[in-house]
Amino acid sequence: MLPENPVFVALDTPELEQAVAWADAVRPRVGGVKLGLEFFNSNGPDGVRRIVDLGLPVFLDLKFHDIPNTVAGAVNAVAGLGAAIVNVHAGGGSAMLSAAATAAAEYGANRPLVVAVTVLTSLDDDDLASVGQAGPAVSQVERLARLSQSCGLDGVVCSPAEIAVLRTACGDRFRLVVPGIRPAWANAGDQKRIMTPREARDLGADVLVIGRPITGSDDPAAAAARIADELDISS
Ligand code: C5P
Repeated sequence: MLPENPVFVALDTPELEQAVAWADAVRPRVGGVKLGLEFFNSNGPDGVRRIVDLGLPVFLDLKFHDIPNTVAGAVNAVAGLGAAIVNVHAGGGSAMLSAAATAAAEYGANRPLVVAVTVLTSLDDDDLASVGQAGPAVSQVERLARLSQSCGLDGVVCSPAEIAVLRTACGDRFRLVVPGIRPAWANAGDQKRIMTPREARDLGADVLVIGRPITGSDDPAAAAARIADELDISS
């Protein structure tokens, strides 16, 4: 189950106390938080437990990509930490994707959602060609999303530009987790293909991953509240 508020704040910091402070500040007006490789490689499983213990759903964004047996073990390990969403690379192939879904399923009603990274948004069509993948990127994204769905995954991570295509291709119940979100009042930073929270939600995004517009703000609590207000979410 995902929270009603679709906003997951990216706590992109190696500092545990900074992550805790951000999570505490935004807690009343967001759906969850996202912890990535920077946080995990600095603070490890104990750091994740500390954030999970704050009571907000945690998306653990570690993008596993390895042989099926190893990925199954990794998913099992992070599911045991209490993460609500975990992810793998769809490019790992069908056996790896199925192994990830099966490993999560062992946690029954408490299992994390497993979503797949399709094509990193930092790659363009030329980058895809250079690693031997047929573009354009949106076609490769759709191909990998369909594969992920057929292997029992709950959804994919995609850019705002891909929401509409994937909603049509994969149906209403497939979860779309979307970074590259910028409120109209925030700086784009290094994100290129951006959309506002409201636009992305209205197109069909289930989870909006938002980092610097909140964590880089002078007042993260106020920024989170402003976004929730724009989404008409009161609590
Ligand atoms: O600060 P910002 O809102 O750009 O943060 C977006 C978060 O989503 C970061 O943690 C980034 O690593 C992550 N992300 C992304 N694009 C992807 C996958 C993940 O921006 N394709």
